[in-house]
Amino acid sequence: MGLKEEVRRRRTFAIISHPDAGKTTLTEKLLLFGGAIHVAGAVKSNKIKKTATSDFMEIERQRGISVATSVMGFEYGGVKINILDTPGHEDFAEDTYRTLTAVDSVIIVIDGAKGVETQTRKLMNVCRMRKTPVMVFVNKLDRPCRDPFDLLDEIETELQIAVRPLAFPVSSGPSFKGVYNIYDGSFSVFTSGDRQTASETIKLGLDSPELDEYVKPYGEKLRDDLVLVEGVYEPFDRERYLAGELAPVFFGSAINNFGVKELLETFIEIAPSPRQSTTQTRTVDPLEEKMTGFVFKIHANMDPNHRDRLAFLKICSGVFERNKNYLHVRSGKQMKFSSPNAFMAEKKSVVDFAYPGDIVGLHDTGNFKIGDTFTEGEQLKFTGIPSFSPELFRYIENADPQKFKQLAKGIDQLMDEGVAQLFTSRLNGRKIIGTVGALQFEVIQYRLEHEYNALCRYEPIQIYKACWIESDNAAQLEDFMKRKHTNMAVDKHGRNVYLADTSYALQLAQEKFPDIRFYFTSEF
Ligand code: G4P
Repeated sequence: MGLKEEVRRRRTFAIISHPDAGKTTLTEKLLLFGGAIHVAGAVKSNKIKKTATSDFMEIERQRGISVATSVMGFEYGGVKINILDTPGHEDFAEDTYRTLTAVDSVIIVIDGAKGVETQTRKLMNVCRMRKTPVMVFVNKLDRPCRDPFDLLDEIETELQIAVRPLAFPVSSGPSFKGVYNIYDGSFSVFTSGDRQTASETIKLGLDSPELDEYVKPYGEKLRDDLVLVEGVYEPFDRERYLAGELAPVFFGSAINNFGVKELLETFIEIAPSPRQSTTQTRTVDPLEEKMTGFVFKIHANMDPNHRDRLAFLKICSGVFERNKNYLHVRSGKQMKFSSPNAFMAEKKSVVDFAYPGDIVGLHDTGNFKIGDTFTEGEQLKFTGIPSFSPELFRYIENADPQKFKQLAKGIDQLMDEGVAQLFTSRLNGRKIIGTVGALQFEVIQYRLEHEYNALCRYEPIQIYKACWIESDNAAQLEDFMKRKHTNMAVDKHGRNVYLADTSYALQLAQEKFPDIRFYFTSEF
């Protein structure tokens, strides 16, 4: 198979949801239908159990286990599917944001009883920024759910994307009858039988007498609803879906394997194969012969005796080959990899070739950073791998004067991994750690001690938000920096960052200094 065919048959995507909506269950059921696993429950996913929220050791352990399931590849109907797993725990949202930079599309899972929740909204903002095509799966129809039209309205307004149902449910909860598949005109009968294996759904035609009998007393309502669907929603337009403007919506019950096969089959048909990627200098097409790729995630090894890490490289063009020399653009060094990992189902294995859309795991002894580019010699830097404004801040101090160097090195490497962000106050030179979740502070402290033999302590600091600032008006920028001197810091690249104490202070600053641009994300 040539490069063109390999690219055409690849689908690389992530499933995102608010915790508990059913992401893990759906992932597992997709693997089950894909034949990658044979019994549900076989995949240890990235899910971090609710009971472990205060136990970060347990969380780190689970994150360790989850390395193998960070990427799950399988073949289905001649298509190579790569599912990129994202942590279920909100405190690791930044990991999820970065994973979204490596996917070509996304499936959003929504709990049919709860509708759109906070985390879904935040993740959708990232998809919107990148114009990522999204599909929606409304889950848990076997439980009493909200009215489907209400849910569709909510998705449209809350997620700011046009929707088009490609399936429509008949009732929910104990009286849930099944789902009408609008795209092929068949009705899938709901059975809650076998949750463990991929069983076939029974299908009935819309005009069949058995259907009327089966959906009683909802037959008429179903026909009315379908008329309403056609009246309210524009026909499905794949181009708009690919442009990230329109989300097809499916309904089902992941735990009951219901609606999953329909979702998978439509997904394969309409979801995009690897798309072009942007760099600082040009657009890279996946069909270009020369290999290019970037690191979007670094996972530390959990074994403190081996400080090696696994860097996840997304292939953007050409063919990646084992033992071939590639340029690590940032350092200018040539590197080759004797045992790059591919990920199939829940297994890691050494791979000889990988194609655009594939993810390759590279062993790293601390040289790589998120955003690093590999090429066959060209000086390229992929863009669109941002860091997001953190939400929690603390001063970090050295708690053991003998271990100053170890601490500096540890902090440096953890920041390269993207565990948190480091800012240096312009006022007093003190180091400030910014994270998206409270747990990261404990994780950093623990890892500094166990991996770098360094001790740190934290001190509180009142910051509402960190934003990167820029302006073409040099005088205004200088004035701003002077007035806000106590709130100014630099990030690890030396860029100016304004640390606003409160949302009010930020708003006031934006009003008073109209020529200054305040950014809430920054490129790595
Ligand atoms: P997440 O990864 O998005 O956090 O969600 P996950 O799949 O773990 O699902 C959260 C809970 O919802 C699980 O129950 C799961 O069994 C349940 N669930 C998933 N899909 C469905 C569905 O279609 N219908 C119903 N009724 N429940 C569903 P749990 O009790 O929290 O965990 P577990 O003990 O079952 O693993």
